[in-house]
Amino acid sequence: MFKLKRPISPPEEASAQPRKDAGENLPPLQEHKRQCLCKLTRLVGAAGVATAMWPLLSALGPDEKTLADGEPIDIALGDIAPGQTVRRLWRGRLVLIRHRTEEEIAQARALDGKTVISPQADAERVKPGHEQWLVVYGHCPHAGCIPNELAGGNLGWLCPCHGSEFDLSGRVTRGPSTENLAIPDYAFHADGLTLRLGVKSV
Ligand code: FES
Repeated sequence: MFKLKRPISPPEEASAQPRKDAGENLPPLQEHKRQCLCKLTRLVGAAGVATAMWPLLSALGPDEKTLADGEPIDIALGDIAPGQTVRRLWRGRLVLIRHRTEEEIAQARALDGKTVISPQADAERVKPGHEQWLVVYGHCPHAGCIPNELAGGNLGWLCPCHGSEFDLSGRVTRGPSTENLAIPDYAFHADGLTLRLGVKSV
C-alpha cells in the first residue's frame, strides 16, 4: 500500500543563525558593567593563585633552591654530635654524614684487610685529618634501597631489601651487594667545621 511520507521540516531559523554573545544585546551602560566585572573576576583569580602559591614559594629557602639547582652545598658540622648521623638529600640522592667516635674509627680500622667483598682501607674512604667524618651515599649499591642504621649506626648499616651489610666505613661486609657505599665528592673548609658537598676541593 502506498504511504505518505512525512514532510521534512526545514531547520529552525534560530538554530541556523550563529548565536550572538549575550552581551552584544546589552545597552552600553550594562555592557560596560559586564566588562568591569569580567576584569575584576580575572584580577581576583590571579590574586587567589598568587596567595595559594606564596607559602610554597616562601618555604623554599636558599638551601632548598640551591639543592634544586644541584649546586655544591655547605653543611655545618658543629652541631653533629659524635655517634650521630645526619642525612641530606642532594641532587636527588641521600647522603649520610656520620660523626664517628674514636671507638668507631678504631672498630672500622680493625676491619681493614678483612672486608673481602670489595677490599678498601678505611683511610681511603675518609679525608686525612678528618677521619671522624664518614660521608657516603645512603643507597645500597645492590638495587638502591636505603640501608638502616644498625644499633644507632655504631655497628654500621643493614639494607632491608636483601640483607646487605655495611660497616662503619661504609664497606660491604655481607652481600648480595658487591660494592661499598659510594662516596660523593666533598671537601672541608679550612675551619674544619663546614663540609662542602659536590666539590673535590675548596
Ligand atoms: S638493595 Fe640492598 S641488598 Fe638488595
